[in-house]
Parts: sequence; structure tokens; C-alpha cells
Amino acid sequence: MSRIYLDNNATTPIHPDVLRVAEESLREVWGNASSVHQEGQRARQSIEDARESVARLIGAAARDVVFTSGGTEANNAGVFGAIPREGRHHVVASAIEHPSVAEAAAELERRGHRVTCVPPGRGGVVPAATMIAAIEDDTRLVSMMLANNETGVVQPVAAVASACRERGIHFHCDAVQGAGKIDLDVNALGCDTLSIAAHKMHGPKGIGALYVRRGLALNAHLVGGAQERRRRAGTENVPLAAAFGAAAKIALDTSWREGAARLRDRLETAMREAFEIEINGAMAPRLPQTSNVTFRGADGEGLVIALDLHGIAVSTGSACSSGRVEPSRVLLAMGISQDDARSTLRFSLSRLTTAGEIERTIAALRDLVPRCTRPVAGAAS
Ligand SMILES: Cc1ncc(COP(=O)(O)O)c(C=O)c1O
Repeated sequence: MSRIYLDNNATTPIHPDVLRVAEESLREVWGNASSVHQEGQRARQSIEDARESVARLIGAAARDVVFTSGGTEANNAGVFGAIPREGRHHVVASAIEHPSVAEAAAELERRGHRVTCVPPGRGGVVPAATMIAAIEDDTRLVSMMLANNETGVVQPVAAVASACRERGIHFHCDAVQGAGKIDLDVNALGCDTLSIAAHKMHGPKGIGALYVRRGLALNAHLVGGAQERRRRAGTENVPLAAAFGAAAKIALDTSWREGAARLRDRLETAMREAFEIEINGAMAPRLPQTSNVTFRGADGEGLVIALDLHGIAVSTGSACSSGRVEPSRVLLAMGISQDDARSTLRFSLSRLTTAGEIERTIAALRDLVPRCTRPVAGAAS
């Protein structure tokens, strides 16, 4: 029986059209985009076409899009690039940022800057008013993600960005999970920098983009060449950029979202009927294809492994650090207990998920959840 992939927030399978573009580009568009001859100009054209497609997805002008090696690099570029090289400054970040923002902020702290982390409420939303209240006179950067990778909860980015704009503070948005799943327009959001990544939308890994508002002063994070308007030095990755362009075009087709939301809701309803569960972030605006579920008393790790053996790929709400599985800091920040965090699974669907796959997943869960219970502390063995 074919496998079922419900871990699309980790990464998505490559779309056949994207693969075709990448293969053709690797074979035929191998010139250096900085060269003046025809081989170079063909590569240049391919990069610029891709930039146009990626820009369209986020409502930007093509010249304001910088290709990067992925979401992590784009987030690092936005965060470090916003902080002046001189002096000590203050940064505000939500407590649910992806590590590529959170650890960049922690690194700024080690360098002598101050960082305020703003926690979410129990429903997974970081309140705009609390983010804005955390701004101080020397705040240089405010960072807030568009949608959380674990819960799918969409954050009030536009309100925070607008307050930053009024105060002349750099606002960075990590839109890696939001792009292609909800409507996204950099001008409506009002951000200064914004990150996206191809592999979350059926493109390849290793390519992303940073939107940079026109005229913004941003320290270049890679120097040594004039590429990407001097914002990111290095010979351009033509095949991956072309593939990202193809993925962005596919992402413009939004017709799958409603169907995915229906399948997600069907999964949640069936689980509610069968078990004692909590759906984290269910009361907030969410990505249409993400479900973060606490199965009270279940062993989350064990359940992921059991599902995997049944041909179903999902993930836990945990992160593996230094060989130990730690409960998710996002769930803990929401006020969820360590035990409940360890009993939490994330299901993330895509445009390719079918009703049959969801029914098979429901059947597998009905069978496996009662068998994957967490040992009760202090119980006799
Ligand atoms: C919200 C968010 N930001 C950033 C990243 C990092 O992107 P990349 O894997 O392209 O480095 C991820 C990837 O999981 C993510 O979910």
C-alpha cells in the first residue's frame, strides 16, 4: 500500500513540473548569469523570470526579491542585516519564532544587544498589543512570523508592522510557512523584510528568498560579488531559482486550500469523536492544512513511530536537541504542560493529500492511539 505523507510543514514532495524545470535548467542553462555572452544571458534571463514569479506570489516587485539558500539564510539576513554594526540595540521577537530567527536573536544578545521575547496566549496568537508594548526607545528590529510552523496559527503581523512603520523600526516577517497557503502581500502586511522558502511549496530545498523593501538600509550578509544587487554575493544558483519560480507559479493556484481545510476538519472531527484530544490553536485563524493535536495520555514519539510503521508520516510537537527529545518550546510557551506537549502530534496536509489518505489515517489512529499510552509516573511496573 502506498505511503501517506502528512508532514508537509517539514517539507513537501517536489512537484513533477518543478522537477522538469530543474532538470532542464541543470542540463541546458549552465551559464554564469554574470557573463555577457549568450550562455550567460540565458542564465540571467532564467533567473529574472524566476524572480518575477516569486515576486508575484508575495505581491512584490521583482527587483525587491533577493534569492537565498533557503528560509534560514533569509531569516538570518533579515535579522542580522537590520542591526547597525555600531552600538547596542534592542530587539523584539515573538517567543514562537522558528530557530532561524530565535537563535539569531539569541546570538545578538550574546553580542551585547537586548532581546525581548513576547509569549503567545493559550490559543497560539502572540497579541499585537503586547508586541507593540514591548517596543522601547532603542528598538531597532521587531520580528514576527506570519504563521507558526507547529500550530499553523496566523499571527497579527500587519498591526505590528504598522506600529513599527510609524516609529521607523525595521519589521521582519518569517513567512516561510504562510507563503502559498494563505494570501500574502508584502505591501498589505507592511513589512521591511520577509522570508520564504521553495521547499515548503513543492519546490527544491536549498533555495529561498528575502523580500527587501525598496530603499531599505540592510547590511549585506554575504560579500564578495555584485550579485543580487550586492545584497547577496555569489554566483547565482540558476537551476534552483528556476525551480523556485516554477513552484511559485503552482502556488498561485489557491483552489486546493478549501479542500485541504475540509480534509483537515474531517480528521479533527473524527479524532474528537474517538479520543480525548485538544486541538492547539483551533480557535485562532490557522493555515488551512495544519492540525496540532494533543492526544491526552498518549506517547507522542511512540505514536509517530507506530504510524510510520503503518505507512503514515507525521511529526511530533517535539524537537530533538543534543540527542534528547525535548517538548516543543512553542507549545510550552502557549502554556501547554510538558506531559501534554509530549503527547502532541502535528498533521500537515498539502495540495496532494486525498480524502482516501485521511480516511486511512483516521482508521490507523483509532487502532494505534489506545495502544501508545505514556507510562504513568509512579505506577508500579
Ligand atoms: C517558519 C519557518 N521558518 C524558517 C524555516 C527554515 O527554512 P529552511 O528550511 O528553508 O532553511 C522553516 C523550516 O522549517 C520554518 O518552518
